[in-house]
Amino acid sequence: MSDTAQAIEVRDLHKRFGPLEVLKGVSLTAKQGDVIAIIGGSGSGKSTLLRCINMLELPSAGSVTVHGETIEMKTDGHGGLIPSNRRQVQRIRTRLGMVFQSFNLWQHMTVLQNVIEVPVHVLKQPRDEAIAVAETLLKRVGLYEKRDAYPAFMSGGQQQRAAIARALAIQPLVMLFDEPTSALDPELVGEVLSVIGDLAREKRTMILVTHEMKFARQVASHVVFLHGGVIEEQGPPQAIFEDPKSERLKKFISSIH
Ligand SMILES: Nc1ncnc2c1ncn2[C@@H]1O[C@H](COP(=O)(O)OP(=O)(O)OP(=O)(O)O)[C@@H](O)[C@H]1O
Ligand SMILES: [Mg+2]
Repeated sequence: MSDTAQAIEVRDLHKRFGPLEVLKGVSLTAKQGDVIAIIGGSGSGKSTLLRCINMLELPSAGSVTVHGETIEMKTDGHGGLIPSNRRQVQRIRTRLGMVFQSFNLWQHMTVLQNVIEVPVHVLKQPRDEAIAVAETLLKRVGLYEKRDAYPAFMSGGQQQRAAIARALAIQPLVMLFDEPTSALDPELVGEVLSVIGDLAREKRTMILVTHEMKFARQVASHVVFLHGGVIEEQGPPQAIFEDPKSERLKKFISSIH
């Protein structure tokens, strides 16, 4: 039975790169309005998990369900999976807003063009409507006056806020963030976290990979600690940060304070 109150459901996800098994059976549920923070050491599989959710990486086994719709997969004949319905993947991807560490704005387009590109060319929204939505979003992230600027002429914090506006422009069901502030100079981190914090307060469903533990503690409804491709421990932020149970989580938390 499909459950649309569940924004994302990941079941027993495995991912292998050749002989290396990076995800070893991860299950995760994000209900609507949840803000899930994924924490863990470098190489623990955080980005891979996020990338499997929107099929930027193909899982080796397991399932991903978005808003009650399970992505249809078939075996590729080499021990992995491939989507059996590419159009379904394309459609589901347009419901997920992804923000990367390195912004990934289109450099040859202005900020406004970046934000309206997918709404106009993929979602076939009328251009003037897409521009109106984009301008509202750019005001929200404090970039309205930069709408005609090219990314190369903007700070990292401005580029990341533009990338967030671009991800929001598709009216996603879920926002996925992969370390959105770790490429920024320290003085620019706050402006990006403040935008993400506003989204959390609006009860937008989000899955956020972050190294900003203080922020995770403030905004997350649920924290997942990945270690070696499995969920080592998970729970509400207070329990994870103040009363960690596993030795590995204790060590991880003490290493970042
Ligand atoms: N395309 C790929 N091909 C081969 N190995 C990969 C690929 N992508 C990731 N890996 C490996 O998978 C493991 C997990 O990588 P992943 O990027 O998910 O870690 P992470 O938890 O996001 O780490 P970080 O905090 O450094 O970003 C690493 O050992 C990495 O080298
Ligand atoms: Mg990563």
